[in-house]
Amino acid sequence: MFDGKQILLVVAGGIAAYKSLELVRLLKAGGARVRCLLTRGGEQFVTPLSLAALSGEKVYQDLFSLTDEQEMGHIRLAREPDLVIVAPTTADLMARLRSGRADDLACAVLLATDKPVLLAPAMNVRMWENPATMENLSVLEARGFHRVGPGTGDMACGEWGEGRMAEPAEILEAAAGFLADRTRLAGRHAIVTSGPTHEPIDPVRYIANRSSGKQGHAVAAALADLGARVTLISGPVRLSDPRGVAVTHVESAEDMLQACTDALPADVAVCAAAVADWKIADAARNKIKKQANGAPPSLALTENPDILASLSAPGATRPALVVGFAAETENLLENARRKLARKGCDWLVANDVSPATGTFGGDRNQVHLMTRNAQEDWPTMDKTAVARALAGRIADALEAQA
Ligand code: PMT
Repeated sequence: MFDGKQILLVVAGGIAAYKSLELVRLLKAGGARVRCLLTRGGEQFVTPLSLAALSGEKVYQDLFSLTDEQEMGHIRLAREPDLVIVAPTTADLMARLRSGRADDLACAVLLATDKPVLLAPAMNVRMWENPATMENLSVLEARGFHRVGPGTGDMACGEWGEGRMAEPAEILEAAAGFLADRTRLAGRHAIVTSGPTHEPIDPVRYIANRSSGKQGHAVAAALADLGARVTLISGPVRLSDPRGVAVTHVESAEDMLQACTDALPADVAVCAAAVADWKIADAARNKIKKQANGAPPSLALTENPDILASLSAPGATRPALVVGFAAETENLLENARRKLARKGCDWLVANDVSPATGTFGGDRNQVHLMTRNAQEDWPTMDKTAVARALAGRIADALEAQA
């Protein structure tokens, strides 16, 4: 998986640092050369000896170490790896990265690197939810840092909530995405739909749903990471456009269908958008006024076009592979399988969107990949990991068809 790849693992000071030892083992088992950088905080939780024994490499700790600088130099340490993973990433380290500090080896290397950086945050739930941390995170993400996790669960401090570092296997999956072979989908065109649609009631009101676009945007980014030319057709979301992806912003299902049709031909289409099944039959031209008698307006609905079914219909421009998503709150698998048959797509990614799952709007998802005659149940993963795994499957399928 990682043959010939070099990874720099920065281990900062958090109890989750013990999981980084397993991460080193998994990366090495995957064929990577792993160098470790241990911060002063990290030294409190794992020893340089453990990291050195597992990685089979010297462990770097000091910015002002004469020997380290002679042997390697912090700039080389920053430039040589194909990927830098920071696991665990502490709240303090995020704050320091955000302000561009370079007063220890970890910050200096992360400031100097031009390679993708994958952060695996780990901290107490309140530290994670603190507006300062959230703001630091959004600044770092806007600057191009990538993130995996954190997950939700019991914490070492006895509290429960979001802030647990992603499991080593999940970090491994994310790392594989970054180091993916960008030639796999080179020359392929992918259409991805994402986010909700807004169906106007009048010029100021609309019908919408809770989709954030996180899953669809992650799929678009993952396909682009494999070298595809990606056209992302997005409903109204609060996300930045993924890097390296052409984005068409739309509002309604009709607009989304038109944009998809305009984007054809494509090798693959992935419909992750939560398209409104219905729209208002006759949206008002002006804002609907309250009536003097207090009677509420009655709104007649009419069916929206089905974008997935239309892309799946046989014809000269049908993509070789059409993938839908199914969002269900009951009888997930049965309903999804019926949907797969009804819409005519090749694969369907089924997910439970009951409020308790947090699928809508959350960072994690548990999906079932259904093909016409098989089904795989995937574990709960970060939406980016789901997207990378799906993109990998898409690449396999297109390669097999070629
Ligand atoms: O955006 P997030 O907050 O990250 O949440 C992700 C998600 C839950 C929105 C995503 O994982 C997901 O399930 N997307 C599909 C949502 C949906 O509309 O499902 P559905 O079961 O109602 O529709 C089935 C399929 O038909 C979907 O591929 C949908 O895009 C498509 N469809 C539906 C109606 C319609 N008029 N046109 C369509 O193309």
